[in-house]
Amino acid sequence: MNGKAHVSPSAIYPGSFDPLTLGHLDVIERAAAVFPRVLVAVVVNPQKREPLFTLEERKQMILSATKHIGNVDVADFRGLLADFAKSAGAGVIVKGLRVVSDFENEMSTALMNRSLSGIDTVFVPSDPKYSFVSSSLVKEVFFLGGEIDAYVPEAVLHVMRAKRANLRPTEPSEEKS
Ligand code: PNS
Repeated sequence: MNGKAHVSPSAIYPGSFDPLTLGHLDVIERAAAVFPRVLVAVVVNPQKREPLFTLEERKQMILSATKHIGNVDVADFRGLLADFAKSAGAGVIVKGLRVVSDFENEMSTALMNRSLSGIDTVFVPSDPKYSFVSSSLVKEVFFLGGEIDAYVPEAVLHVMRAKRANLRPTEPSEEKS
């Protein structure tokens, strides 16, 4: 010990969450068991592609799915994560790693974020039962008619069903002649 008082840092868990999966929720629960507060930070404009769910839908699904965890907050951010994490007073960034190949990208991202903000990244290995679960696969399976109950929280399933009902094109028999 160096005589300094150690204060547990609060954590920030960033992502697109389009939508939140049970894999994400598992990382949030485990981070919340280690850090005094976990801020789930939803990026407004994901870089990969236009999100299926609006920002409000993505945040609402996270709030509903995490209401059993007392020390979790949800916020959104634009621009650099490093800037937002600093302004939010985060002590660490949490990232989940599903497969070994995730590490390659996440390593350089973690080093860049630390260089920009001084905030380190803590990696949480995915539970193997969720290692193949991603938001994009869940959406693809769901909209092609597959079952996704095992991969997303109940709150997400409700919103996805509503979204599918709204997106479903009119059946030919329902069309007016
Ligand atoms: O769930 P995702 O899509 O894998 O999350 C990616 C996210 C939001 C964590 C990442 O794109 C991000 O940090 N975006 C903010 C922009 C930024 O800070 N870019 C520089 C990273 S070193």
